[in-house]
Amino acid sequence: MSQRSCLSVILAAGEGTRMKSAMPKVLHAIAGLPMVAHVVKAAEAAGETGLALVIGHGADEMKKAAQKFAPKAETFVQDKRLGTAHAVLAAREAISKGYDDILVMFGDTPLIDAGALAAARQKLAEGAAVAVIGFRPPNPTGYGRLVEKGGRLVAIREEKDCSEEEKKIGFCNAGMMAVAGKHALRLLDKVGNSNAKGEFYLTDIVEIAGAEGLDVVATEASFESALGINNRAELAEAEGIWQGRRRREAMLSGVTLIAPETVYFSHDTEIGADTIVEPNVWFGPGVKIASGARIHAFSHIEGATIASNCDVGPFARLRPGADLKQKAKVGNFCEVKQATIEEGAKVNHLTYIGDARVGAGANLGAGTITCNYDGYSKFFTDIGEGAFVGSNSSLVAPLTIGKGGYIASGSVITESVPDDALAFGRARQKTLPGKGRELRERFASAAAAKKRVAE
Ligand code: UD1
Ligand code: CA
Repeated sequence: MSQRSCLSVILAAGEGTRMKSAMPKVLHAIAGLPMVAHVVKAAEAAGETGLALVIGHGADEMKKAAQKFAPKAETFVQDKRLGTAHAVLAAREAISKGYDDILVMFGDTPLIDAGALAAARQKLAEGAAVAVIGFRPPNPTGYGRLVEKGGRLVAIREEKDCSEEEKKIGFCNAGMMAVAGKHALRLLDKVGNSNAKGEFYLTDIVEIAGAEGLDVVATEASFESALGINNRAELAEAEGIWQGRRRREAMLSGVTLIAPETVYFSHDTEIGADTIVEPNVWFGPGVKIASGARIHAFSHIEGATIASNCDVGPFARLRPGADLKQKAKVGNFCEVKQATIEEGAKVNHLTYIGDARVGAGANLGAGTITCNYDGYSKFFTDIGEGAFVGSNSSLVAPLTIGKGGYIASGSVITESVPDDALAFGRARQKTLPGKGRELRERFASAAAAKKRVAE
């Protein structure tokens, strides 16, 4: 099958009014990726060689987004929404290039798996002209029914056009189908619109192909993989299913999730074996974690690279550009942004490290802050290997602290510190014997005098 060329036509012109959104429906995200991009990924995995995106509602926004998630896709604008067959024909120019297989998919069916698409394509390789992907929803109302006779698919009847008998059929049209490229345009051009909705139904090509004596078959996909999204409740349902699949995949690949249902993955999260993720951890986009790391509870991580055997959290926030080398430690209530924490360095408590490098084995005390921003520009802080920064220090960038440099706690450091130097950036302590008691007595008598006046 891999030799056969394949054009994926993804229909995404619909308005999606039930999302109640200013944004086109198919751009709403699952695991941080627009749902239509999930469909593109499935098409790619099923061996697509060309991609046509049919858009209409919010066309400009869609084109812009497509440049990111499907830069190779050709976009076609369907000006009027006259039905699914009409939508496919918007991509006529692409279809006429002569592909072996045409895969039609909906942009609002994000959980479709590559296996179901490949199974439909396999039927074409075996000689079918049309292979429809069917499924068995718990409640078939609203779906097109697959009408079969003698093991062959003879028609797809839309709910509104069904007889009472046909409404009892539980095997439904998931919406996706594979059509032999050599027949596709001819079959589509024969579709008319004399039906209950007055639309040009893609599903009509089943009867048309049958009448021509061509072979038409149905394959079966899981209910989940055919789930269509119309509103935000269904979006959340799809998110839940996606997360469930991903958690399972992570665990089967050797990652321990102590409470899997509380860990949220992004579409692109990478985690190595023997990493342990504690409950309530959120992964935003762009996270790569090697093996043997431990991510403690309630950590929020995005755009970060975490090497093997690192220790992160609890309550750590790693933002884009955080790069933790082997055995680095970023502890509770620490935020790291655009900074490298070298091997074995420790950033343990209540700290902000931004635009910085923390050298191997360095130790930053509680409350260390890199002051990286003056309201206009960002500046870099370089902390040398083995340096020690005492608690509650402000490191005002640009700044270099040399190897083995030692910063007294409570310092505001504004000038670079050479290797092995000790720097204080605070007033010296003064201790006045007996003055504490004297002060207390003075305050007490002042308060008593005030009270007498009030009486
Ligand atoms: C369609 C199927 C139905 C199937 C169901 C599965 C047809 C005629 N019916 O019905 O058999 O059970 O999906 O969910 O195909 N679109 C366009 N342009 C148009 C019309 C639709 O781009 O002119 C796009 C929509 O944005 C959507 C998809 O095609 O992504 C499906 O259209 P929709 O109107 O939702 O079809 P259904 O009535 O759900
Ligand atoms: Ca629909």
